Amino acid sequence: EIIYIGIDLGGTKMLAAIVDAGGKLIAKAKEETLAERGAADTINRMEAMVRRLLAETFASSSAYAVWGIGIAVAGILDPRQGTVVLATNLRWENVPLGRLFRARFDCPVQVMNDANAAALGEWMAGTGAGAKDLIFVTVSTGIGGGIISGGRLVLGASNSAAELGHISIDRHGPLCACGNRGCIELYASGNSIARIVRDEIAAGETGGEAILRLAGGDPERLTAEHVAAAASQGSAYAADKLAQAGAALGIGMISMIHLMNPKLVILGGGVSRSGRLLLDPMRETVKQYGIPGLVDGVEFKQAQLGEDAGGVGAALWWRYAEQPVPVV
Ligand code: BGC
Ligand code: NA
Ligand code: ZN
Repeated sequence: EIIYIGIDLGGTKMLAAIVDAGGKLIAKAKEETLAERGAADTINRMEAMVRRLLAETFASSSAYAVWGIGIAVAGILDPRQGTVVLATNLRWENVPLGRLFRARFDCPVQVMNDANAAALGEWMAGTGAGAKDLIFVTVSTGIGGGIISGGRLVLGASNSAAELGHISIDRHGPLCACGNRGCIELYASGNSIARIVRDEIAAGETGGEAILRLAGGDPERLTAEHVAAAASQGSAYAADKLAQAGAALGIGMISMIHLMNPKLVILGGGVSRSGRLLLDPMRETVKQYGIPGLVDGVEFKQAQLGEDAGGVGAALWWRYAEQPVPVV
């Protein structure tokens, strides 16, 4: 049987997926990334995880043939070289991931951006099935994006299109790791929501007590999940933080919609699952400030594949690519 393998390499966890020739997920495995141990160690454990998954799924190695491997990474990549140019949450710089994997598995390897992969997954096997023009936005640790336009994944000149988390909404805003100021990622990502609350607590502002309690009293441990939990338990302060994040996301989303004129916007990622307290202000902002003819027809939906989106999408790359030119 012909199979595709996808790996989603995240800052905290990595997920491997086996997808069959029909595009169906048939097996998956998950492990901690342990990025602090360094790239070589992570790559060895990625390989071991895939080999284990194959051994568990198939009776023997003659039962399958790997058509290709896709690897999704949060960051900037050089798909021609298969190199991870910069992945800040992995602390990787210029790691020749594609070449190493190709040597170990003896099949074509495509390295791609995690959110572009997830967009491909949601489009081919999730919420976006059948749509020709959609934008996928993942709100998690960071904010990522992927675009399907005219029934094609938008890749750009160097496969790096759709860095949607780095749309700036304030050129005088805080400095982003990408070098720009005021990126929506700095207002609406999980990391940023937590950082904003932490900073306000440190500055002596009141209101964050309920959130801090949920974090066990330690500001360093405070996450966006604590903010969402406090909000759902009635903290007006926490609800306001989510509303501010939603509004910032909405302003950024107007630019995405004006640029691409999508029919559908799919929202994924852990933070988007905090629900209406974030998403309603986002939608209201889009409606209030966007160009009516463009924003009125847009439908918003939640992603379906959840944590599998990146792995499934990376595997599906090999089903999608008619001409897999940028192969290592
Ligand atoms: C990175 C993107 C990535 C996104 C989601 C951002 O910080 O710049 O490349 O897709 O996080 O992981
Ligand atoms: Na992207
Ligand atoms: Zn940025």
